[in-house]
Amino acid sequence: MYRALIRPWLFRHDPEDAHHFVMGLLRRWPIGCGLARRLLAVDDPRLRVEALGLSFGNPIGLGAGLDKDGEAAGAWGALGFGFVEIGTVTPRPQEGNPRPRLFRLASERALINRMGFNSAGAETVRANLARGGATGIPIGINVGKNRDTPNERAADDYRAAMAPLVPFADYFVINVSSPNTKGLRALQEAGAVGDLVAAAVEVARGDGRARPVLVKLAPDFEGDALEETVRAARAAGAAGFVATNTTVGRTGVEGSPFAAEAGGLSGAPLRARATEVLRRVYRATDGALPIIGVGGVATAADAYEKIRAGASLVQVYTGLIYEGPCIARAINRGLLALLARDGLPSVAAAVGLDAK
Ligand SMILES: Cc1cc2nc3c(=O)[nH]c(=O)nc-3n(C[C@H](O)[C@H](O)[C@H](O)COP(=O)(O)O)c2cc1C
Repeated sequence: MYRALIRPWLFRHDPEDAHHFVMGLLRRWPIGCGLARRLLAVDDPRLRVEALGLSFGNPIGLGAGLDKDGEAAGAWGALGFGFVEIGTVTPRPQEGNPRPRLFRLASERALINRMGFNSAGAETVRANLARGGATGIPIGINVGKNRDTPNERAADDYRAAMAPLVPFADYFVINVSSPNTKGLRALQEAGAVGDLVAAAVEVARGDGRARPVLVKLAPDFEGDALEETVRAARAAGAAGFVATNTTVGRTGVEGSPFAAEAGGLSGAPLRARATEVLRRVYRATDGALPIIGVGGVATAADAYEKIRAGASLVQVYTGLIYEGPCIARAINRGLLALLARDGLPSVAAAVGLDAK
């Protein structure tokens, strides 16, 4: 139904208008939540994951950037997701880049975006989450800096974005890998990332329950800079990593009329590159820290590839746009079949099998 009817209708509209339309529905739909949860949640002990000191009903989460302001935080569990990442949240509200800033590359199953951290700001996100009530699933909060804050004062911004949100966060992600805020990726270099992580870990201690702090990495590192960053972040107290953000590369979309648009590429053309980065992070940490694998996941096979490369948890964003609201159920059911095929007792048993 999504592919035959809803997607063609949504795709006739500007991508950002379609996004706001769907978010408007999700904000208002609590009545449908109970029914949706019964239809879409896959409840099976083999899918449960214990990671970051948290319990996940299934490993498939919603990636950052879709519910940036926590407007529909309660809807994602009802759609069968095992967790949701809100954000990126900046400390002060900001509009982001001028539109158009989001492009569909439909034949390539990809998106290019240069949203530039459009955020309602930490105080409004706090109010949204307080109003929304319990989400029923672990909630991650992804934070960034305001565009006009120089990198030398970035740590203050990450702290300020996190502080009001501590009571609502099960984990935090420091986003230092968006390609759409000038200079941001310099903060993921080994010489810079440690100070940010240390500052964030301090704030995440909050009211006594220390929230784990993860670092979200770009897929575009050169040489062994990735391993150096991972080591520096780990030494400063990072509890895990999110691999990866969008790429500035254009491999696989050369023929698209939108290939020359500035921004980060996501979806199918990013998949293999993101998996390779994930595998390197797993190896660089000897599999000791949980990694959230993200980039080009649309099917159970894609998610399983991430898990076998070292992901304890997996996120989708672009896949949801192309596959529709049943994607979490489809992936979770497919994962059970893949585990059975390979004689594995659980998702946890598959983590990192292809990275050793
Ligand atoms: C329109 C759009 C906005 C995004 N915004 C954010 C963001 O605010 N923060 C962030 O960490 N990642 C953001 N991302 C990146 C996604 O979370 C994800 O890392 C990336 O898209 C790769 O996954 P995918 O191929 O499943 O989309 C955004 C992606 C898209 C397509």
